[in-house]
Amino acid sequence: MKGILLTGGKGTRMYPMTKAVSKQLLPVYDKPLIYYPLSVLMLAGIREVLVISTPEDMPLYQKLLGDGKRLGMRFSYQVQETPRGLADAFIIGADFIGQDSVCLILGDNVFFGQDMTRTLLRAMENKNGATIFGYPVKDARSFGVVEFDQDHRVISIEEKPAHPKSNYAVPGLYFYDSRVVDIARKVQPSARGEIEITDVNNAYLKMGELHVTLLGRGMAWLDTGTPASLLRASEFVEAVQARQGFYISCIEEIAWRRGFITTEQLTALGEELKMTDYGQYLLSIAREAG
Ligand code: G1P
Repeated sequence: MKGILLTGGKGTRMYPMTKAVSKQLLPVYDKPLIYYPLSVLMLAGIREVLVISTPEDMPLYQKLLGDGKRLGMRFSYQVQETPRGLADAFIIGADFIGQDSVCLILGDNVFFGQDMTRTLLRAMENKNGATIFGYPVKDARSFGVVEFDQDHRVISIEEKPAHPKSNYAVPGLYFYDSRVVDIARKVQPSARGEIEITDVNNAYLKMGELHVTLLGRGMAWLDTGTPASLLRASEFVEAVQARQGFYISCIEEIAWRRGFITTEQLTALGEELKMTDYGQYLLSIAREAG
């Protein structure tokens, strides 16, 4: 399975913070926002990742992530000239996807929870069709929203409904088989001029091949869409890390625990950052393995 990390967007809702810097490079406590969704792909065992971004921001992502070798990963990059919508990721990434299945994650989605890895692996067991998630939120109006019938069967996904038919929002984490490329090519732009991921999901639903996994309250899906929610995400990460001593979404640690890199490689990565708590953390887990 391949992974696509979609950054793009102008981030106008976060101006002036994002006037000169891409939103997904802003810090969530001690690491750039994009580390969090990247870590989800890595937890799913996905090692080939396509990063899609704007022409202006692309060099910054390349500087931050490089070719991925240091993490035992393979990163490639493709520019999205204009923000045409989330489903455009599959058209841009058509060659990258090839005949493989693909996981798309949005560069500003933060997930955390004990069951994360198991949830991901279970989603990947569905070899055909699409698997998306439903997550309970207080106000679902700014998301894709799952509509159920009386027997709890999914009957539609609605994009940003004024009157949501449930409180289950669809997070920015999606699994598809390789047919997604053709399906995305057929999607017509919505009223906001974008080819919507929700239309892709509804196409799979029509074919009877959309799996919707509901996530429980034990999982955190954090919003980073406003300055206040970004601050809350930082506070959440700080609180958990300070209490447990374990880092959330530390990509070097995940690469090592997953066996993508050796303890020697982890130590070398820690040495480079040893002037920071982050580097000291890497060195301490490498020593434990000692
Ligand atoms: C997008 C999707 C929406 C989804 C959300 C998750 O919204 O269109 O269905 O629930 O991501 O973050 P957007 O970020 O384009 O407003």
